Amino acid sequence: MDSRLSLSLSLCFLLSSVLPLAHSAHQLLGPKKTQESVLALTNGVSSAPFDPTRVTQISWRPRAFIYEGFLTDAECDHLINLAKDNLEKSMVADNESGESVESEVRTSSGMFLGKAQDEVVAGIESRIAAWTFLPEENGEAIQILHYEHGQKYEPHFDYFYDKVNRELGGHRVATVLMYLSQVKRGGETVFPDAEAKDDQPKDDNWSDCAKNGYSVKPNKGDALLFFSLLPNATTDPLSLHASCPVIEGEKWSATKWIHVRSFERSWKQAIRECTDENENCAQWAAAGECENNPSYMVGYEDVLGFCRKSCKVCSSK
Ligand SMILES: *[C@@H]1O[C@H](CO)[C@@H](O)[C@H](O)[C@H]1NC(C)=O
Ligand SMILES: *[C@@H]1O[C@H](CO)[C@@H](O)[C@H](O)[C@H]1NC(C)=O
Ligand SMILES: *[C@@H]1O[C@H](CO)[C@@H](O)[C@H](O)[C@H]1NC(C)=O
Repeated sequence: MDSRLSLSLSLCFLLSSVLPLAHSAHQLLGPKKTQESVLALTNGVSSAPFDPTRVTQISWRPRAFIYEGFLTDAECDHLINLAKDNLEKSMVADNESGESVESEVRTSSGMFLGKAQDEVVAGIESRIAAWTFLPEENGEAIQILHYEHGQKYEPHFDYFYDKVNRELGGHRVATVLMYLSQVKRGGETVFPDAEAKDDQPKDDNWSDCAKNGYSVKPNKGDALLFFSLLPNATTDPLSLHASCPVIEGEKWSATKWIHVRSFERSWKQAIRECTDENENCAQWAAAGECENNPSYMVGYEDVLGFCRKSCKVCSSK
């Protein structure tokens, strides 16, 4: 644990060097209250304070940080409520085509929220942007995931191998993983190849899976930020990570993936293009698949389907 560095010290230096600026910004924005160093947000949606003194750097290879109490209990419960009646089996992106496919590698269920779908979600998204220093438009919509007993996501990267996904806003540069429930046992996030994996002492409260790397316990309200790209913009193989099987209790989490370019603009371009991504689209559409299998054919929320041309839905958004 002594290898952990608290960011607060460096932030104190940072803040004291820009104090006159920070001070006038505070007056301008009229924050609710301040104690210690609390950065204010410029877009008015969120009133929740962003407090960098709660951030701990846990690893440089890969670059990973924990923010304790990033979400309030009420925010966690709200996100779960938005998702719980709309869960579908989680998919993975096919390495070559980029299509969403089912896989035993990932056994959770989940759903995508809409971007800024309500005030709470919008507030969380602007806090994520402030914490990561990455603009909101580079983010995908938040995905809520649910893992029951034994469910997991085996080691994987958040960057893509396929061309289709990479063209949408470029690589994923960073991921913010928010833990929405208190898992009794298991369900840790593990980085099997993290450089610091042998420096983390683990008692029997960690699952065996978690002992295979540097691990983070899924504590309700905490958020984990890690980077999939190195500072020189190449992919970081040490960002390999997994969700350990839940042993006791259930795990809810919320993920925000952030790309190197605007994700919103990419979608708008894709919408303008109006294409079929599979040669069988016309045939499937004629057979009624646009109605019977809309999440694949047409898409939902911010996620485009693969047969939008044949389903004639291109001008609807
Ligand atoms: C995708 O390709 C990469 C690199 O070739 C490989 O390491 C990875 O295991 C593949 N993933 C899947 C799900 O096939
Ligand atoms: C495991 O957690 C429990 C409850 O949080 C605690 O009482 C116990 O001391 C912990 N076990 C170890 C080995 O630290
Ligand atoms: C990027 O950084 C990594 C790690 O420092 C290094 O191994 C790699 O060679 C660099 N790649 C380029 C293209 O600079």
